[in-house]
Amino acid sequence: MAGTGSFRELGTPRQLLSVADLGGPDGIEQVLRLTDSFVEVSNRPIPKVPALRGKTVAWLFYEDSTRTRLSFETAARRLSADTMNFSVSTSSVKKGESLRDTALTIEAMGVDAIVVRHRAAGAPHRISQWVSAAVVNAGDGWHEHPTQALLDCFTIRQHLGSLAGRHIAIIGDVKHSRVARSDVLAFTALGAEVTLVAPQTLLPPSLEGWPVTISHDLDAVLRTVDVAYLLRMQQERQTEALLPSLREYTATYGLTQRRAELLDEKALVMHPGPMNRGVEIAAEVADLPNAVIVDQVRNGVAVRMAVLYLLLGSANVPVEELAS
Ligand code: CP
Repeated sequence: MAGTGSFRELGTPRQLLSVADLGGPDGIEQVLRLTDSFVEVSNRPIPKVPALRGKTVAWLFYEDSTRTRLSFETAARRLSADTMNFSVSTSSVKKGESLRDTALTIEAMGVDAIVVRHRAAGAPHRISQWVSAAVVNAGDGWHEHPTQALLDCFTIRQHLGSLAGRHIAIIGDVKHSRVARSDVLAFTALGAEVTLVAPQTLLPPSLEGWPVTISHDLDAVLRTVDVAYLLRMQQERQTEALLPSLREYTATYGLTQRRAELLDEKALVMHPGPMNRGVEIAAEVADLPNAVIVDQVRNGVAVRMAVLYLLLGSANVPVEELAS
């Protein structure tokens, strides 16, 4: 964004692989301020600006997605970028083409940014070493999901004003969660206090360097939080029996209707989606007025507009001056 004086100028970053690439609280705030502008654009009768006309954004999704893929696609179109869709299931990946050859092939067709989701941690990082296009991590294995963290910060800021001094509980399958890793980095960078609530088997083997508190007592933590952030139980990533049963997990760590009554009336309930209703969150709790899960999805479009604009936009065209 022109004239913000913050961590970087438009078009100079080449990648967003981790929350760390945002360079700390100033960089995160820069994206959140820019997101405010793109929320305004999204509320216009014609929610489209010519900011990225002539640019092309490609999707390279080796894992399923609803929210991230569709919101990046909507974001690119609202910025007037061309989009190149790539479906692994109908591509030459099925004939054994490597990740590197696939990335180079897509780049050779003339793309300015590649948005990557992959089951392997570090895959977007590898691609960023092979191509000169900008690379955005849309979720890599258990590692990170930086744009999810940005939209989560934006949603908390929207409802609570600020993250500074807020107490946020991240509850559930932390071990397999790229969202948890990115959220811990972003929430604590903006001054929130984070408590991880999970059975020992669903915590990473080492939490050295994580600026968090650990608890196994969800009822006690819920009484103190501004945000209860539920994580999806990622059964597809579990290669060993980590829980006696899902029923027992829900009884101890699920946000049931009874537990939701322990929350302050202003506390938010969040979830990155997709939800397992009845497992980590009761079906009725997900639809309470203070559950802002749909807002998270809605804000994902404006946040991803901000990220694409920062990566590919021109300082000569400040977002405030863009006409529909
Ligand atoms: N939150 C999230 O990444 O959802 P999708 O898997 O649907 O993209």
